[in-house]
Amino acid sequence: MERTLTVEQAAYQAFLDAYPEFAATSAVDDLRASDYARLDASRQVYLDYTGGGLAAESQIREHADQLCEHVFGNPHSGSLSSDATTRLVEQTRRAVLAHFNAPPEYTAVFTLNATAALRLVGEAYPFAPGGRYLLTFDNHNSVNGIREFAGARGARVDYAPLTVPDLRIDRPRLSALFAGVDPARANLFAFPAQSNFSGVKHPLELVDEAQAKGWDVLLDAAAFVPTGRLDLSAVRPDYVCVSFYKMFGYPTGVGCLLVRDAALSKLRRPWFAGGTVNFATVQGRKHILAPGEAGFEDGTVNYLSIPAVEIGLRHLEAIGIDTIQTRVRCLTGWLLKELLALRHGNNRPMVRVYGPATTTMRGGAITLNFYDPEGHLLDYRRVEELATAQRISLRTGCFCNPGAGETAEGLTEDDMLAAASEGTDMTLPRFRQIIQHRGGKSAGAIRASIGLASNFSDVYRFLTFAAELRDQARLTVGEVSFDIESCRVIRDGS
Ligand SMILES: Cc1ncc(COP(=O)(O)O)c(C=O)c1O
Repeated sequence: MERTLTVEQAAYQAFLDAYPEFAATSAVDDLRASDYARLDASRQVYLDYTGGGLAAESQIREHADQLCEHVFGNPHSGSLSSDATTRLVEQTRRAVLAHFNAPPEYTAVFTLNATAALRLVGEAYPFAPGGRYLLTFDNHNSVNGIREFAGARGARVDYAPLTVPDLRIDRPRLSALFAGVDPARANLFAFPAQSNFSGVKHPLELVDEAQAKGWDVLLDAAAFVPTGRLDLSAVRPDYVCVSFYKMFGYPTGVGCLLVRDAALSKLRRPWFAGGTVNFATVQGRKHILAPGEAGFEDGTVNYLSIPAVEIGLRHLEAIGIDTIQTRVRCLTGWLLKELLALRHGNNRPMVRVYGPATTTMRGGAITLNFYDPEGHLLDYRRVEELATAQRISLRTGCFCNPGAGETAEGLTEDDMLAAASEGTDMTLPRFRQIIQHRGGKSAGAIRASIGLASNFSDVYRFLTFAAELRDQARLTVGEVSFDIESCRVIRDGS
């Protein structure tokens, strides 16, 4: 007897026909049932993997067993309990370096998160007059914030722009900014391996290109490494930051700075703390910083959580980063195509996606806004509310990446200065109002991000949710329209 397929099953079949390579990732579907069962048990669709990964139950159990079976004390002492901790922390450090295939010249410094790793670099990099800090418009605020250290110490700060609508780095403009640098000075170039705004994967060849021209390179790998292979023997940025919860969900509160020996020796720490000195005197007012990572790990490291990083890395490696990447690419490709094909009854597009429309050099974050049949922007806060009612977790706002958002929305320096002139009263709702009045631009968007435990059903449910916005009367924020086909803002009534 012929079996009748449900609409979702038929869509899945069509998806498999379009992406036959997805079938080879079926082990993750099994894991989803065993290790991430809480998602389906609670009927939730989790689409915020760029915000944070999800932990497998087995990771948590293994860590809990470890904690229950052993006595762990504060590390770096000679006692049994201390020695047990030190051994596990150092074993994890080696596992981190091995995961990224780091040559011996790399050191792994445990931090609280990627932001803390970035701050370590920012506050200790020898920025000085004549030196430079160059960064791409597409950057997380934790990278943008380093400009405060650079500027305060007299270094010149420049931003390399993005192209529209793809939101990729404008290579000719970047090359021009690379040129003319004085290699005798301290020059730092920072960019993300993958955008947390658009999902764009920026070319890792930029590392070599910048280094050859006299720049040190800070690679923000936080959004890239959960689904991408970073091989530090192939590309060798001077500084790399990651947050482990983004890779495998658990533990939170542990990140890492991977740093080359030569780059580490350039850093000048602005202070010392417990755990970072080999010697310190009160009367002599002198201190001698400990060599290597110890000089950068302030106070007591998160010694109970750090061993869970090794467990997480093993989990990731057992699945295989290539399998995860393939899976995320297939699901992203399908969702992108389907979202872009959504049309209102009057045949106008329903969705504007920021960044590339295909999976070429892009990861699993899709940032978008919805529009009504007249081209009015639907308020993303309302869209989020509606998604939440359907148990779909998205992220909305600007994702701490103002430069990519400003480029995507066509916001100008004048727009941003007008907003900044509001001083401390400035809030996101107030900012949205100001921007609306300055030509109806939108501030903020919706991000759906796909990751390790995502399956077809997740993206299918999101698409079904999106399709329900067809012919919706406006869920408005203002009196302005956006012509989604020409990507132009048009004032109401014009
Ligand atoms: C690209 C990128 N860099 C840096 C960060 C900061 O990570 P954390 O908040 O874990 O410090 C994030 C977090 O979203 C990110 O996506």
